[in-house]
Amino acid sequence: MQKVLVAGGAGFIGSHLSERLLHDGYSVICVDNLLTGSRSNIEPFLQNSSFTFLNHNILDPLGDLGKIDAIFHLASPASPNHHSKVSYHALPLETMLVNTQGTFNLLQLAQKNNAKFLFASTSEAYGDPLVHPQVESYRGNVSTTGPRSVYDEAKRFGETITSYYIRDKDVDARIVRIFNTYGPRLLKEDMRMIGIFITKALINEPITIFGDGRQTRSLCYVSDLVEGLMRLMFYPKTKGEIVNLGSTDEHTVLEYAQIVKELTHSQSEIVHSEALPEDDPVKRRPDITKAKNLLDWEPTVPLEKGLEKLIEYYKEN
Ligand SMILES: NC(=O)c1ccc[n+]([C@@H]2O[C@H](COP(=O)([O-])OP(=O)(O)OC[C@H]3O[C@@H](n4cnc5c(N)ncnc54)[C@H](O)[C@@H]3O)[C@@H](O)[C@H]2O)c1
Repeated sequence: MQKVLVAGGAGFIGSHLSERLLHDGYSVICVDNLLTGSRSNIEPFLQNSSFTFLNHNILDPLGDLGKIDAIFHLASPASPNHHSKVSYHALPLETMLVNTQGTFNLLQLAQKNNAKFLFASTSEAYGDPLVHPQVESYRGNVSTTGPRSVYDEAKRFGETITSYYIRDKDVDARIVRIFNTYGPRLLKEDMRMIGIFITKALINEPITIFGDGRQTRSLCYVSDLVEGLMRLMFYPKTKGEIVNLGSTDEHTVLEYAQIVKELTHSQSEIVHSEALPEDDPVKRRPDITKAKNLLDWEPTVPLEKGLEKLIEYYKEN
C-alpha cells in the first residue's frame, strides 16, 4: 500500500484530499497542527486503520515515519479576509514560515524518501494580475510589501524552493496554483466571500459587497480540485510542472450574492459598502489549457449544485 503524507490534512482541502486518498486505497499520514484546520474535519477517518493523524507543526522535525511515497504540502493559512482570526493577515509569521521553512523541511523529507512532492501555491502568486485570464507563464503583478505579501510572496518563495529541489536535487516535485475553491468544511470563521454570503443569507442579515460588486471571481468545487491534485501528483510526465487548477466560470461578486440569496430563499438585503480592500484583485480567472492538455482535467460540478452542498453543510453545522 502506498503511503502518502498530507501536510495540512485537517484543513478544508486537505481533509477532502485525505478522504479521496483513503477511498483510492492509499495509506494517509495527516500532519497538521490545527492552526486553521480542525479535528472535526478528519473525525470520520480517525477510526480508519489506513489513516494516521499527527498533531504536529511542520516547522519542527518529523520523527521516523517509515517509507513515504508521496507528500502533498497544503499546510498554510489561506483566508484573505481581514476580519477573520484564521486569515493570513492574522497569522503573518505562521504563513511566511510554513510556506518557506515548512516547504524546505518537506522537500528534504521528499528527497530522503525519493517521494513525489506537490506544493500548493495559489492564484495569489499572480498578485493583482495585468494579464487576464492568468496563464502559468505570466509572472504576476505582486507587491513585495503590501498587506497580502505575507501570503503571496511566501507562496512565491515556496515555488522557488520547490523549483530548486526539482532542478538541483532531482526531486519528483510539481506546483499547483490553486484558484478560489469552495465546498463543505470551508470554515464559517474563515470568512471567505462565499462563506460570508451564505452565513448572512441563512440568517437574513444584509449581505455586504465591497465596492460596486463588479469585481469577478470563479469558484471551483472541492471535489473537482481534488481530482486535479490527484492527477497532477500521480499522472506521468508531471514532474517539474506548474499547473493552474480552478474554475473558469466567472461571475461578479454581485452575481454570487444574488445566486446565494435565491438558493437560500433569503430575505437578506444586498448592501454596498467600503472601497475595495487594498490589493484586492479586481479580476481573477485561470487559464486552464495546461491542465486540460496535461491532465485531461476540467471542473465538472456546476456552481449551483456545489453551492447547494455548501449551503446544506452550513445548515447542518
Ligand atoms: N481554499 C482555497 O480557495 C485556496 C486557494 C489557493 C490556495 N490554497 C492553498 O491550499 C492549501 C489548503 O488551503 P485550505 O483552504 O484547505 O486552508 P485550511 O486553512 O483549511 O487548511 C490549511 C491546513 O494547514 C494547517 N497548518 C497550517 N500551518 C501549519 C503548520 N505549520 N504545520 C502543520 N499544519 C499547518 C492548518 O491547521 C490547516 O488544517 C493552502 O496551502 C492554501 O494556501 C487554497
